Amino acid sequence: MSRPVVIAGNWKMHKSRGETVAYLTELAAASSALRDSGAQIIAAPPFTALDAAVDQSPAEVDIYAQNMHAAEHGAFTGEISPLMLRDLGVSGVIIGHSERRHVFGETDHELAEKMRSALDHGLRPIFCVGETLEQRTASQAEQVVRAQISAGLSNLPGPDSLSEVAIAYEPVWAIGSGQTATPAIAQKMHETIRQHLRDLAGPIADDLPILYGGSVKPDNTANLLEQPDIDGLLIGGASLEADSFLSIISAAAGLVASQG
Ligand code: PGA
Repeated sequence: MSRPVVIAGNWKMHKSRGETVAYLTELAAASSALRDSGAQIIAAPPFTALDAAVDQSPAEVDIYAQNMHAAEHGAFTGEISPLMLRDLGVSGVIIGHSERRHVFGETDHELAEKMRSALDHGLRPIFCVGETLEQRTASQAEQVVRAQISAGLSNLPGPDSLSEVAIAYEPVWAIGSGQTATPAIAQKMHETIRQHLRDLAGPIADDLPILYGGSVKPDNTANLLEQPDIDGLLIGGASLEADSFLSIISAAAGLVASQG
């Protein structure tokens, strides 16, 4: 079993085209460190900067979108289709981020359609799951996360397509709050997710990267990645400055090196 380490920056609604180019120029200056890290590095800029990002990103950085509509085209004002993302050269897409679920009301059913569509169009999805504080307090966290995974993966093009999927566990209470899940809490949920994936899909579950997200910073990176079922990180706030993102990558690289 060897799972890739994935370090992904979710920029949310931040950065103009110019800021995107400046940021990626800083990453490009560190391209040998990126390459040597052994990690898959992803940046997910807003839609308006994707074109510039694909153009400017060093070869070591994959550019993902933060969302997409499931349909190829149609009367969906304000939406962006998988064909449009492919046309830009985008490699993958974040699906079901908790802000999409909770602020924009995306449902399990819609997210399953988006997962299907992303895979049908050759876009690698990072599928996000995670419980709210109320659900955790009511001891429903594992049940909620299992149900989100079952729903999101219920309509995939075929069993092999799972090999293109990464899961991100992002407890809603930890996102942007400064309150990271402890490595032990995160590991416990990642183990639950891994087992659930095994139940659903068999041994391929052991090859799937499961990322943690929620107030990841350079100084908690190593403790999180040391956990056996935490294979990567999905980072919001701390990915917005190139030097902080690079610090996270180098903390991860130290770990990949010490395990290798
Ligand atoms: P955060 O966001 O790192 O700012 O908590 C993570 C995310 O929402 O993906």
